Amino acid sequence: MFAECWVAALIDVVFEGLLVHDGEAITDANERVARMFGFDHPSELVGLPWHALLAPAGRRASDERVRKGVEGRYRTVCRHRDGSTFSLDVNARETRYEGRRARIVAFRYPGDGPPGSDPLIQKAAALDRTVQALAETIEQRDSFTAGHQDRVSRLAVQVADRLGVGASTLATIRMAAHVHDIGKIAIPAEILMKPTTLTSEEFALIKGHVAAGHCILQGIAFDGPVAEAVLQHHERLDGKGYPAGLDDPICEARVMMAVDVYDALSSARPYRAGVPPGRTIEMMQDGEAWLLDAEVVRHLAAVVL
Ligand SMILES: [Fe+2]
Repeated sequence: MFAECWVAALIDVVFEGLLVHDGEAITDANERVARMFGFDHPSELVGLPWHALLAPAGRRASDERVRKGVEGRYRTVCRHRDGSTFSLDVNARETRYEGRRARIVAFRYPGDGPPGSDPLIQKAAALDRTVQALAETIEQRDSFTAGHQDRVSRLAVQVADRLGVGASTLATIRMAAHVHDIGKIAIPAEILMKPTTLTSEEFALIKGHVAAGHCILQGIAFDGPVAEAVLQHHERLDGKGYPAGLDDPICEARVMMAVDVYDALSSARPYRAGVPPGRTIEMMQDGEAWLLDAEVVRHLAAVVL
């Protein structure tokens, strides 16, 4: 066990990311760990559940190690503040801090270098930049769709996290949701923004955005089915969605389609007010649960209500 006076001194001087938690919440952290996870200042971490820094797979591995009393050094999957996942080497020990039992956890980038020194992390960062560039492309033209994609991505990550999906599925959902309407770049703005009923020709054009999005994304070497999830995000479980009328869309698309519907209904548009969150969930559960994945909607309700 570290001497308590050492812990206080180490927090400020070591080059590794360092935090202390009481088994639940973070009680102290240094600047480096704040930067590693995308926070501006260590004080933003204090009080957060320490599990919030880990992807579901990382949480399970950490809990298992604490239970077996074999903490020490290990590599785990962490979660950045923006929802992205990345690997860090962790070294954890029991200690006393501010008069109580606590755990001190040190974080280090694999290979003892910042992101970029590990080829896998380098590739993940390049894909993130690509997705961001695509999301910004649509923002230049259609700020409503850009905001919608951003909200759907953040919410979809929270829902997927509650569903307990693995780190790679979580990353696919985050990226696919962030660009799920990229294909709207091919649709005239006056049709996208039309406040009155669309003609059947106009609706057919709008429906084409999923195939256009798939076409844009399929050439990018994502590790997961990002292009497929975008292609399927308007499918429905009764087979009445589009473009293919699938009744068994992939898990990534099931999460996106529910969150997409929620955000579309609950957000205000220039020509109508947004539906309140509680009423939106009721509409999704009562009227159309058979169209959407009921388990996804249940977790979505737990996040937004
Ligand atoms: Fe869409």
